[in-house]
Amino acid sequence: MAEFVKVAKVTEIPPGKRKLLDVDEITVALFNVNGHYYCIEDVCTHDGGPVAEGVLDGFAIECPRHGALFDVRDGSVLSMPAAVPVPNYEVKIVGEDIYIESPNDW
Ligand code: FES
Repeated sequence: MAEFVKVAKVTEIPPGKRKLLDVDEITVALFNVNGHYYCIEDVCTHDGGPVAEGVLDGFAIECPRHGALFDVRDGSVLSMPAAVPVPNYEVKIVGEDIYIESPNDW
């Protein structure tokens, strides 16, 4: 069973915003898309770029290094040059607190 870690308050990440976090020595980003929260690792599978720091359009995040697109909902690849999904982590909201699946459980 996955272990969850508390990482933020819902009030810290308004809709359309994101927050970068270091969890278990892994940098991840939490996104709020229309009131739903998603979490992916901030390392592009193409060449290690800071993918979660790129432009978000709907559910698509564009890696700022070479432009690969990923879906923040599940880390899946939407366009080349990446071919492998980025890790994504389950998010749970409990009251005002946001928890993510511990990256160490991967
Ligand atoms: S490092 Fe992300 S597209 Fe190349």
